[in-house]
Amino acid sequence: MPTPLPTLHDWRLSVDYEGIAWALMDREGERVNSMGRRFTEELGEIVKWAETAAIHGEIKGLVLMSAKPTGFLVGADIREFSRFATEAQVKEVVKESLQLFDSIEKLPIPVVSAIHGFCLGGGLELALACHYRIADREESTRLGFPEVKLGIFPGLNGTVRSIQLAGPMDAMTAMLTGRMLRPTAAKAMGLIDQVVATHHNLRWAARKAVLQKRRSKGIPWWKQMMLKQPVRSLLAKQMRAKTAEKVREDHYPAPYRLIDLFEQYGDDPARMRVAETEIFAPLMASDASRNLRRVFMLSEMLKDEAPKNGFKPQFVHVVGAGTMGGDIAAWCVVCGMQASLQDLDEGQLKKALARAKGLFKRQLRGKAAIDAAVARLIADPKGRYIKHADVVIEAIVEKLEVKQKLFQDLEAEMKSGAVLATNTSSLSIEDIAKPLKDPGRLVGIHFFNPVAQLPLVEVVRGERTREEEVRKATTFVTAIKKFPLIVKSCPGFLVNRVLTPYMMEAVRRYAEGTPRDKIDQAALKFGMPMGPLELMDLVGLDIANKVGAELGSSTPPDNPLSRLVQAGKLGKKTGEGFYVWENGKPKRGETKYDDAELDRLGRELIKPMLDECERALADKIVANADHVDAGVIFGTGFAPFRGGPLHYRRAQEAPAAAAPAAA
Ligand code: NAI
Repeated sequence: MPTPLPTLHDWRLSVDYEGIAWALMDREGERVNSMGRRFTEELGEIVKWAETAAIHGEIKGLVLMSAKPTGFLVGADIREFSRFATEAQVKEVVKESLQLFDSIEKLPIPVVSAIHGFCLGGGLELALACHYRIADREESTRLGFPEVKLGIFPGLNGTVRSIQLAGPMDAMTAMLTGRMLRPTAAKAMGLIDQVVATHHNLRWAARKAVLQKRRSKGIPWWKQMMLKQPVRSLLAKQMRAKTAEKVREDHYPAPYRLIDLFEQYGDDPARMRVAETEIFAPLMASDASRNLRRVFMLSEMLKDEAPKNGFKPQFVHVVGAGTMGGDIAAWCVVCGMQASLQDLDEGQLKKALARAKGLFKRQLRGKAAIDAAVARLIADPKGRYIKHADVVIEAIVEKLEVKQKLFQDLEAEMKSGAVLATNTSSLSIEDIAKPLKDPGRLVGIHFFNPVAQLPLVEVVRGERTREEEVRKATTFVTAIKKFPLIVKSCPGFLVNRVLTPYMMEAVRRYAEGTPRDKIDQAALKFGMPMGPLELMDLVGLDIANKVGAELGSSTPPDNPLSRLVQAGKLGKKTGEGFYVWENGKPKRGETKYDDAELDRLGRELIKPMLDECERALADKIVANADHVDAGVIFGTGFAPFRGGPLHYRRAQEAPAAAAPAAA
């Protein structure tokens, strides 16, 4: 009698007439497969079953595949991360999974993973424990180790296995950058063994691989040489230098610990396996990783804000082809939409189209995709396409009467059901909407500069804006792959409101004689992506000064900022502001300041921002404290490893009581 199949919920297991066992991942009630507890336990049962069935000669091989169109396996179920509160807990959970993966590797029959869609983190580690890997070449198929973004590195022996299969350079680069790999790139480096054209070819290819007992070849001799000393230490040194260009060790230790692991044990897989867990566990239980996981949860929270069905925007009309409008239209096109762009000034339109082409070249692959994008962006000086648009966004000069007049015209021409939005930074939605026949229609969709790089967009609800318009605007923002933050109309909305007191505190300190470089170094030491003075230079000191005045910041009237503005020194755009700019870069001073002093100054600079976050929360500018944190992290780059401004403040006030994660 054949060995009975286990009862499963998250997998489907069957044996075909040729004796090949097909284990299909299909997590019950979930859109995507992730490695939740039950999923992993059931995989354990499948492996035990396969051991027995193989011994009895009932199966010739085992294939791991996904039954879900969304993809293979995205790694650990981040909702279950609370299981990893202490180092001891991490080690216990990791130990079980390591034993499971080892037993897959030791199965006496060929084990093949057939990959379509996302295969990430622990999902890729599982695939690496198989004897042979096949992926399809479809656009949605991607492999990668995104762990560093969560403050950890692969902890299920993925470090060892990837180095053994792809060699140290490729494997370490993949793990240190967290970059997503296309199947052809993964094949070129040895992470997978075979690529097929589409997911329809996967089953057949997997069948052949089982019947022909295929196995990965391992790395060639010259990659083996790189694992030996002194080459290994030399590589480690280069990796440290490259990593240091991107992140600081005191804020993001994970990549540095991974390099240590490689340098110490790179040529000794057995010891590296053990050491991996020893180094991984404290990282996983650290505040930095907990906070980075929280940031991930916050991004998911914002993405879930938009209703899933109903409004499906495909055509966007943007009025104003300046800094913002041109880039907004181009970004919508990158995301697959069609866009028309209107401006009074034909020269501006031309410049915007040229800039858009540059963006398409950077963002899209292949001439056909770039040409198609160019064709989807239409210059429309007369506004002929307004009536076709699902979303109309205004991004013209910041003058109330000009905007009011434009909106009256737009309202008359637009189709019913289309979203009518303004990108204004400082005017009130209520004032702009006043002359409209239907003022409840106007919503703010406030982008940040540069549009292509900044992930947040504020969706501004005016006093009279209808809820339906807010929902549609949120859907649109999600459709262009940005995070929507719904904010109540108020000066500065959320992001500029909390950023301004921080920048003005920097100006105040500078006016009092604190050196410029010390101020900016202190902000970097705290974990901000850029110092506040450099940031103001980048934004333009005229704009920073105006926003500061509008938001009622209390800097002395004769402060260095207004003096620079009066002197026409407006920052990067004029070549000088707080810094002198050369070749697009500020000339920074060489002085290094004491770490403890920088820490103290960093905290003091940030304090006004935290205070303003508290006020914005009390004023109900956004839904709750998590939304404040999400908005400030994604809108200002606020030190992600600190988990957000309010989370950080609560943790400072009561370290033990701070909520571990948004989960
Ligand atoms: P900009 O000065 O670069 O561009 C404005 C464009 O609008 C110009 O090309 C001008 O010719 C055109 N224009 C003026 N009146 C027009 C009309 N009646 N019809 C058609 N076109 C007209 O301005 P920018 O910086 O792009 O700002 C636009 C809007 O976006 C403003 O409301 C601003 O507050 C907002 N904003 C600006 C940000 C920035 O960093 N520059 C960031 C977020 C929002």
